[in-house]
Amino acid sequence: MKHQFSHGTYLITGASRGIGRSIALQLAALGTELILVARDKKALAETERAIKTAHPRSNVTVYSCDLADRKAIEQTTRDIRKRFKTLAGIINNAGYARPGYFGELPVEEFEKAIRTDYLGAVYITHALHDLVSEGGLITVTSSVVGYMGVFGYTSYAGPKFALVGFAETLRQELLARKIQVSVLCPPDTETPGYAEENKTKPYETQALSESAKLMPPDAVAEKFIRGVKKGKFIITCNFESTMLYRLHGIWPSLVFSIMTGMIKKAQKKKKPALA
Ligand SMILES: NC(=O)c1ccc[n+]([C@@H]2O[C@H](COP(=O)([O-])OP(=O)(O)OC[C@H]3O[C@@H](n4cnc5c(N)ncnc54)[C@H](OP(=O)(O)O)[C@@H]3O)[C@@H](O)[C@H]2O)c1
Repeated sequence: MKHQFSHGTYLITGASRGIGRSIALQLAALGTELILVARDKKALAETERAIKTAHPRSNVTVYSCDLADRKAIEQTTRDIRKRFKTLAGIINNAGYARPGYFGELPVEEFEKAIRTDYLGAVYITHALHDLVSEGGLITVTSSVVGYMGVFGYTSYAGPKFALVGFAETLRQELLARKIQVSVLCPPDTETPGYAEENKTKPYETQALSESAKLMPPDAVAEKFIRGVKKGKFIITCNFESTMLYRLHGIWPSLVFSIMTGMIKKAQKKKKPALA
């Protein structure tokens, strides 16, 4: 089962900027019709304009909806069901990370992260999966932090790990309808969301990030489309994150030791020298 993005309508959440915007632009180039979902109306309108400028014959519908709000999702999906009888795919990409030391993150942050990054995708998929035609596509955007814990990301790891389990299970249930389910796991990517994330990163997390190269969102979108077309379940995007995924799968304690070494080195460097 290898989904090829033939013509049809794709719903993309988190399409107003960053990785989702890049995916939307690249799918429009393939001649697909798009439904874009995010909160910021101005940013959605800008993405729609960019798509229409690059592909004047494209069909784009935008919905402003807070995916952390179940009632708002119900209203939006009700409207989508009235206007669209079938979907070729649902691309659950919206999300955010708020790094910080576990003890310093308010518990409300854990609730918000689960609502936005996990439940938002579950509710959208639950309300619309029956519209996805045979041979269609459902994806979630997880992260490297969806297959291995990374210092500073306690509130982000929960929803991103949960998305992998959700997708792996849904994949089995939707096999009968020949619907491909895939998980995009981007590494650090140069997006507005990443810039925001950097504001609260503990220095240990910063040190871990510095060891990896930032990817442009267009390159992540390309990897996503290529990975889906190859029928991949987990889609990693560059050499380092692919190696980490494989190594963590077979030897998690080694990955833990390497990361612990890097964290200790950063902490030693930070420690003020004794007078
Ligand atoms: N950038 C990275 O380094 C990286 C790495 C791994 C995984 N990821 C994941 O990749 C996805 C895209 O991230 P990005 O870096 O492109 O982030 P971004 O630049 O901040 O874009 C995030 C998108 O999600 C939307 N969004 C966020 N919260 C929302 C909410 N409550 N309701 C509706 N839409 C919401 C945003 O739109 P509005 O603000 O307008 O709502 C925006 O369109 C996320 O799931 C993120 O966790 C990113």
